Amino acid sequence: MRIAVVGATGMVGEVMLKVLAERNFPVTELIPVASERSVGKEIEYKGKKYKVVGMQTAVDMKADIALFSAGGDTSLEWAPKFAAAGTTVIDNSSAWRMDPTKKLIVPEINAAELTAADKIIANPNCSTIQMVLVLAPLHKKYNIKRVIVSTYQSITGTGVKAVQQLENEYAGVQGEMAYKYPIHRNAIPQCDSFEENGYTKEEMKLVRETKKILSDNTIAITATAVRVPIVGGHSEAVNVEFSNDFDVNEVRNILHHTDGVVVQDNNDTYTYPMPMYAQGKDEVFVGRIRRDESQENTLNMWIVADNLRKGAATNTIQIAEYLIAAKLV
Ligand SMILES: NC(=O)c1ccc[n+]([C@@H]2O[C@H](COP(=O)([O-])OP(=O)(O)OC[C@H]3O[C@@H](n4cnc5c(N)ncnc54)[C@H](OP(=O)(O)O)[C@@H]3O)[C@@H](O)[C@H]2O)c1
Repeated sequence: MRIAVVGATGMVGEVMLKVLAERNFPVTELIPVASERSVGKEIEYKGKKYKVVGMQTAVDMKADIALFSAGGDTSLEWAPKFAAAGTTVIDNSSAWRMDPTKKLIVPEINAAELTAADKIIANPNCSTIQMVLVLAPLHKKYNIKRVIVSTYQSITGTGVKAVQQLENEYAGVQGEMAYKYPIHRNAIPQCDSFEENGYTKEEMKLVRETKKILSDNTIAITATAVRVPIVGGHSEAVNVEFSNDFDVNEVRNILHHTDGVVVQDNNDTYTYPMPMYAQGKDEVFVGRIRRDESQENTLNMWIVADNLRKGAATNTIQIAEYLIAAKLV
């Protein structure tokens, strides 16, 4: 496969290269792509150096698959040009996720929806992927009525600039700010910009994308997304009300047998998921599984994943692996 990594110099792009190498993805030619600022810069893949190329050059190289993580505007402008050149685009930005003509894919849940005609495929938002992977099997079994989610999101979700801001703040150095406020020793109840309804875009992504991936518009969802000075991954406190009653041990058992999910749930041994330990891993970790005693048929969980891995790069590459296995590219 001739693979273009668009945004190869960014946070997600770098992890994308790492994950491609780790999984021994069948790359016959690697095309690292970024903005004009980075053209000619060298990146390393499997011990070999590659020169970054610009967008038009990459389109003309007609890759089989382009893995995009270069922001929404870049994607809106360039994904159709890659697609027109015959390249299948898997996009990490929010540009195409809610477009009814585009599929929004978490491979373990809905990869079977994909066909060879899908030339632009959307990767869901990081906070949505980790939540929905846990919710999907429970929805099937108990039917979800309502979800209340509060997130504790890593600064790596904001990209290179945010990591630099935190490092500057640690070091007491003045520098460019990715956020409106200091993030060191802080919790910022705003991820992404605000929408008209008073929620942030990140919060509304959790609402809209979950319904689309689970193909169920009847699920009620409300979210509060908070940025915290953490690097390893996003954490989510998730409260789920079902139509049907459940047994907590059966819930654990279902999740234990769910692809891509690891149950870490033992109070006696203080076992629960934490971003420090999820960092660098491809799985979604779930723990603190307990009945919400304030309301019937309701469950509380704590879900953690590395947002750059399963939340972005790994999910994108799993989609690409599916396309190859199903001979759709
Ligand atoms: N971080 C996450 O957890 C996460 C998770 C899911 C999805 N995403 C999405 O992935 C995308 C990238 O996120 P990131 O965190 O990796 O950001 P980042 O660290 O800021 O990297 C951005 C990348 O996009 C490239 N780029 C920017 N403008 C471009 C342009 N006009 N043409 C071509 N390339 C351009 C940059 O190239 P230069 O180095 O040349 O500027 C860089 O490679 C965003 O859409 C984000 O929403 C991020």
